[in-house]
Order: sequence, then structure tokens, then C-alpha cells
Amino acid sequence: MLINTIKELREQVKNWKKQGLTIGLVPTMGALHQGHLSLIKKCVEKCDKTIVSVFVNPIQFCPGEDLEKYPRTLDEDKKLCEDAGVNIVFAPSPKEMYGEGHILSNDFLTYVIPPFFYVDKLCGKSRVGHFDGVCTVVNKLFNIVQPDFAFFGEKDRQQLIILKKMVKDLNIPVEIVPCPIIRETSGLALSSRNKYLTDKGKLDALALSKILFNIKICYNKGIKDVKALKETAYAFLNNSHALEYLEFRDKDTLEEKFSADNNTIVFIAAKVENVRLIDNIAL
Ligand code: PAF
Repeated sequence: MLINTIKELREQVKNWKKQGLTIGLVPTMGALHQGHLSLIKKCVEKCDKTIVSVFVNPIQFCPGEDLEKYPRTLDEDKKLCEDAGVNIVFAPSPKEMYGEGHILSNDFLTYVIPPFFYVDKLCGKSRVGHFDGVCTVVNKLFNIVQPDFAFFGEKDRQQLIILKKMVKDLNIPVEIVPCPIIRETSGLALSSRNKYLTDKGKLDALALSKILFNIKICYNKGIKDVKALKETAYAFLNNSHALEYLEFRDKDTLEEKFSADNNTIVFIAAKVENVRLIDNIAL
């Protein structure tokens, strides 16, 4: 069932809650792929009722990013959701979520701002304000749906860590369920933005996962020094890659690691054909 308004969604959720049913939410921006479907599958298995939100959230895009050209495929998304056993696809308009005029001025919107320590690094460094937009919309979705469980992919690991922190700090009564990265057989992590890549771009994009897999092999062989591990990346990079970062950080606090251990996540971001790609791996 497709629902576009908060009012209608709340009525449906209220009914389910009255019956004591558990509710799972999978927040998405649409353009659903196998990665999203793995989250949806987990949600359908775990919860009595599954709601998938499809909302290209304007306030998490920075100036100059791909808000206008971000793929919007609601009909296909709806079909995929139906086939996967989703009960409701919630697809509100920006006006429904933020009211009139929000795009003209964010000065008239209450934001949820994650701690500076979590956003001054990795993607937050180049995407200033991005995580404020993510936390604000996810907090709104949590308030609208009041789910028991919410499912997020480890592909956006910084986002996942920040959202867990938000839920803890603000005592939001929801359990965040992390879901593993889904990869093509080539190793490429699935992303809605892969659609922007040419065939050659997709081949060049393999460098990201290759670098991560190789670092993990080296780590398993006993190399713990982060500087040495980072140096192994250069063998995979050429002038078709604009590396933005390759960083080793704690899996919960995002603190920088100089010696890798089992709590370390390796994060990578690079532009290929001007498409910004991210990936990560747990050591
Ligand atoms: O990961 C995403 O697709 C988005 O950041 C999210 C969590 C749906 C919020 O808009």
C-alpha cells in the first residue's frame, strides 16, 4: 500500500500498535537495489509489519550535489516492495515533511545536530551539514512511524554510527538493526549512485573494494601499523581515481587508529567519473 501523508500513516500504525504488532522501518531515498532489498528482507523476517519510506531528503544534500538528478523510481520501488512483502511504502512529498518554504530557508526548521566529533571527519568533512539533514529526517521518521526496529546498511557506516549515537543520546525507543554491505560479484558495493557510472567507470570503481580487501588480507597476515597498511592502497590507484580519504577509525566512536585492531573500520571515499563513491570494511 502506498501512503503519502503523515496523517494516514499514523492511523494505520495506530491500528497495528493496538493489536500489539511489532513495526519495522526501512528508511530509504528510493532507487531500490539488492542492498535495500536485503534490509527489507531482514525487516519482513523480524517484524510483524514492515514500512519502507521512500523520500529523497532535500536537506541532506549539500549545495552542488545531485539532489535534482538523484534517481527517482517510485513505481519500480513500489513493485519491488510489494514483491518483498512490505506492508506500506511511505512516500511523502518535501512539503508534507517540511511544510512550505523549507527549501528557501532552513532557518525555519528545527534540526537534530549530531556531535561535532562525529561529523568533522570522513564524509562529514566534504559534505558539511549532510548528517544534520540525515539525523533530522530520520528523527522525524522515527516520530512519525514510532517503529520498534529500524534497519540501516553498513555501507553508510558513518551514518549508522551517528544514528546509533542519536538514538542513545536522545533516548529514542527504537532498536537500530545494522545490515551488512551487499556487493556485486566483482566486489563493488551496491549504491544507487553506481547508476551514474559508465562500464569503464564501474571497472575503475573496483579499486575501492580491492584496496579494502587487500588491507584486510595484510592485517590478517599480521601488519597492524596503519601507515604501512595505507601504503598498500597505492598499487590500486591511477589517475581515474580521485581519492578523498582512506582512514582507520574505531567502530563505535570514530576515533582515529594508528595501530589497527579488531575494533577498526577502514573507510574509503573516492571520485570516479566525478561520482563520489564510498565503501568500508571491518578488520
Ligand atoms: O541512507 C539513506 O538512504 C538516507 O541517508 C536515509 C537514511 C534514508 C535518510 O534520508
